[in-house]
Amino acid sequence: MQSALRLKGLRESFIREMTRLALKHNAINLSQGYPDFDPPPELLDAAHRALDSGLNQYGITWGNPQLRQALSAKMKRLYGLDFDPERHITVTCGVTEAISVALMSLLSPGDEVVIIEPFHEGYLPEVLFAGGTPRFVALEGPDYRLEPDKLRAAFNDKTRAIILNTPHNPTGRVFTREELGEVAALCQRFDVVAITDEIYEHIVYEGLEHVPLATLPGMAERTITIGGFGKTFAVTGWRLGYACAPDALSGLFRTVHDFATICAPVPLQAACVAALELPPSYYEQLRHDYTERRRKMMGILEELGLSAHQPEGAYYALADFGSWGFEGDDFAFARMLPERFGVAVVPGSSFYATPGLGKNTVRFAFAKKLTTLDAAAERLRSGRR
Ligand SMILES: Cc1ncc(COP(=O)(O)O)c(C=O)c1O
Repeated sequence: MQSALRLKGLRESFIREMTRLALKHNAINLSQGYPDFDPPPELLDAAHRALDSGLNQYGITWGNPQLRQALSAKMKRLYGLDFDPERHITVTCGVTEAISVALMSLLSPGDEVVIIEPFHEGYLPEVLFAGGTPRFVALEGPDYRLEPDKLRAAFNDKTRAIILNTPHNPTGRVFTREELGEVAALCQRFDVVAITDEIYEHIVYEGLEHVPLATLPGMAERTITIGGFGKTFAVTGWRLGYACAPDALSGLFRTVHDFATICAPVPLQAACVAALELPPSYYEQLRHDYTERRRKMMGILEELGLSAHQPEGAYYALADFGSWGFEGDDFAFARMLPERFGVAVVPGSSFYATPGLGKNTVRFAFAKKLTTLDAAAERLRSGRR
């Protein structure tokens, strides 16, 4: 069957392939970034209540009003950002839908979108589906800093948007105000819209601070701020995210969202109101638990001679497997691990579009119970001896 032109060069997600390999070899799945523990009971109770109380039909396209109200209050409280729930906030089917819709609402043929590599695997297809042309800026190990000259070189008169993900998957970087300032200056100079992916906003370590790009001077009017519920509340299967944008951008966004999905899952939106009512202690515990998981993961990697930049945020470690003397690239390594060691990871180069980058690395996801990480360590240890 002949494919649509926009599918040329694309293939299925490597992460889904690795998850299938994990199932085949009964491996511990450290490839896909989802928690293997339950969401808070308050959310589950609220979801049951919503299903039982008849919230089972289409809802308002823009999202549950209480949820938009709660998101507006949160954006004000945490970041000082003003979003009117009636006009500026739209609830989506995950961050994935929000990014796709943002791109579709902005891009015309010939428009370019800056993507920072390594990048979440959805970004490239999302840009191509929306008819845009990607322009890549590579972050390189070991410290994965955003270099101003490289960033500057990616902007030109055709640039329409940049996708900025912080805290960053897969490097674990939390971009500094200085790095964000470079992005902001270029967006303003070239009249570019920033689409931010802040899905890991609450998973930051060591007192580091997540800074939304929209809070930088001159950026509120040209940023679509996107967040999600999946990671913060361990409900990746609920498929809920949101986009906050000023009038002009929000109007475009809502037109596409309406026709793309009609609305996000209605009973689960009601349950997410309960998520936003959780007290500050929930977020403190979240950081504490992820700090423990990170400590465990980094200890395992160090013991196994897999060197990795310690993540500042999110829940992934990109580890260099060079010391293993393995003959083969990251794909061969990632296919070998589940079969021989019973642990699944993701090849690092699958997060890059530039050939050659990421070839010595694989990504470990550590949104897992400590016992799961211990079991993975045991398999890697015993298989290696
Ligand atoms: C950076 C980033 N953005 C987006 C997503 C997907 O978000 P959602 O499940 O809300 O569509 C992920 C999932 O791993 C991610 O890591």
